Amino acid sequence: MISQDTIERILEAAPIEAVIGEYVTLKRRGANYVTCCPFHNEKTPSFSVSPSKGIFKCFGCGKAGNVIRFIMEHEQLTYREALKFLGNKYNIPVDDREESPQEAESRLRRDSMMVVNAYAQEFYTRYLWEEQEGRDVGLSYLQERGLKEPVIREFQLGFAPAGKNVFTNAALADGYKQDLLTSTGLTIHYPARDNMPEALADRFQDRVIFPIHSLSGRIIGFGGRTLRTDKQLSKYINSPESEIYNKSRSLYGIYFAKQHITKLQKCYLVEGYTDVISLFQAGIRNVVSSSGTSLTREQIRLIKRFSQQVTVLYDGDDAGIKASIRGIDMLLEEGLQVKVVRFPQGDDPDSYARSHSARETLDFLKKNETDFIHFKISLMADEMKDPLKRSGLIRDVVESIAIMPDAITRTVYIEECSRHLDIKEVVLTREVARIRKKRTTRSAHPFVPPSVTETSELSGQTAISPGSDDLSRCEKDILYYLIKFGQTKLDDDMTVCHFIFSALAEDELEFQDPFYSRILSEYNNLTGDDEVRMKFFINHSDPDISRHILDLLNDPHTINVKVLKESLPVEETLLKENVTKAILVYKLKIVSLTCSRLAQELRQSQQLGEKDKIQSILKELTVMMDVRNSFARELNRLN
Ligand code: CTP
Ligand code: MN
Repeated sequence: MISQDTIERILEAAPIEAVIGEYVTLKRRGANYVTCCPFHNEKTPSFSVSPSKGIFKCFGCGKAGNVIRFIMEHEQLTYREALKFLGNKYNIPVDDREESPQEAESRLRRDSMMVVNAYAQEFYTRYLWEEQEGRDVGLSYLQERGLKEPVIREFQLGFAPAGKNVFTNAALADGYKQDLLTSTGLTIHYPARDNMPEALADRFQDRVIFPIHSLSGRIIGFGGRTLRTDKQLSKYINSPESEIYNKSRSLYGIYFAKQHITKLQKCYLVEGYTDVISLFQAGIRNVVSSSGTSLTREQIRLIKRFSQQVTVLYDGDDAGIKASIRGIDMLLEEGLQVKVVRFPQGDDPDSYARSHSARETLDFLKKNETDFIHFKISLMADEMKDPLKRSGLIRDVVESIAIMPDAITRTVYIEECSRHLDIKEVVLTREVARIRKKRTTRSAHPFVPPSVTETSELSGQTAISPGSDDLSRCEKDILYYLIKFGQTKLDDDMTVCHFIFSALAEDELEFQDPFYSRILSEYNNLTGDDEVRMKFFINHSDPDISRHILDLLNDPHTINVKVLKESLPVEETLLKENVTKAILVYKLKIVSLTCSRLAQELRQSQQLGEKDKIQSILKELTVMMDVRNSFARELNRLN
């Protein structure tokens, strides 16, 4: 627990306009500031910051809160992490009573390592811009590659001088401990051997330096590219793994890309450092790289925190592509929506972005984006004609479908594949089912049930399988807001009550739970403020209703009540977000249930071989899935 005292000190020390002003350019308007919302795409500013109230609010997407909330949203941090972030920035020690002495020690050590890395980055950057050697060799190389000053500065690129230990000597002279220099891997220690005395040498010599940033922007490692064509030299040298640098958990560029990935709900995945930087310069900033290694599960989960959609950018030949397909299967397995763009022979994202305008590059990406399964099929089109290979290839595609966690998505893909590969759907369905069965019995981690679970996670509830109980939970959540805050204003011209009733009417929704439905209509016939209405229900003549209402108002796991409480001073500003969320969760649940029902009907029709009916169900299913995904996306944005 972080004490209330500390929280208040942080709120005092961190003026909201200064904190937000570091992320966006604020324009003064009267007592407030306005700008375009950093959380959604817009052309005219509807994001407002009130220094006197200490809150921000977007009239477009509804996001609102205090400075802590802003950091949580923008940096994708938890409440505690956001407090620590701000505490660190404004020099307020954040007392953390849960930390054990060992933890504190290891945190200090990690911190010192990152301080050393920050020093090294400054050293290399200074060398690139200010030393003759750096400018002649490093900077001119980067400029020849078409990189301009702003992007070179933003990614903090640098140059490591030639020579055995120029950096190490400078660092030691500046008082940095040898132990930290070697544990970060910046310096290599050679023990005394034969006649040779012990020695210290720079890991990076005569190389262009690419700092690798953590999610929060601290430097955890480096990549160094040689500019020599000498085949003896490895093109890249990277920092070794350490307490702060875990290769399989980091993604190059994630710090710069995360807010763009969130905003655009899409992540481009490329191969190398230079691909990230070139695309970034071309204005495509939702891009990260797995740095040449094959994608790991941790990296995928990292992406998934920001977006469900990944587009993998490929260059090179079929062989290279086929080799990396394993990584993609893993993306599917994690339930991500995967698309693929293939670059023309001889081009990679970096070279393409360099030889085309930003507009052309973006257009190219948009035009050439194909669904992964289609891509896989087309990749095999030629071999498909060979009857000997055919069955193996089909198996391969079927396997990609079988690992998708969402049943409905699988059904749609099966239908598509059946068309493309000219195989009966039943055959594919049976095969997928067989593979899944085998995997589930073998795997230690059984498949997660369909995406309804994700929905529940989003709303902070425990996962429940789809069913009407689940639905009435959502109805209960909505009632919570209605009864507690119904007459409270959400914005200038709308109350919570008004918002809820019109949101339901919009999609012609009526509560399914008869009990809740009754409360809803009784509410409508009442007059008076929130307190009066609440009292009416609490003292209702029907003891059942009275009990339910009390239960509802005291329900500790209603969505986001916790968040609401944590930010008491801005409870009202968060209200809109929470009510909107409750409604979205509800609509999402309804659509998900419809999807499950359709999928079931589809299965039946398939068994009966009703061709026409299958087609019409599929059509409806595709529409419903789209609706479902757009609700889910919106909800994702709100969270
Ligand atoms: N890589 C590496 N070690 C190597 C080669 C490659 O760590 N010896 C990683 C780097 O992260 C590199 C990525 O794999 O960015 C992709 O490799 P490659 O395409 O060869 O490098 P580029 O970044 O494209 O570099 P350049 O365009 O300058 O050749
Ligand atoms: Mn390249």
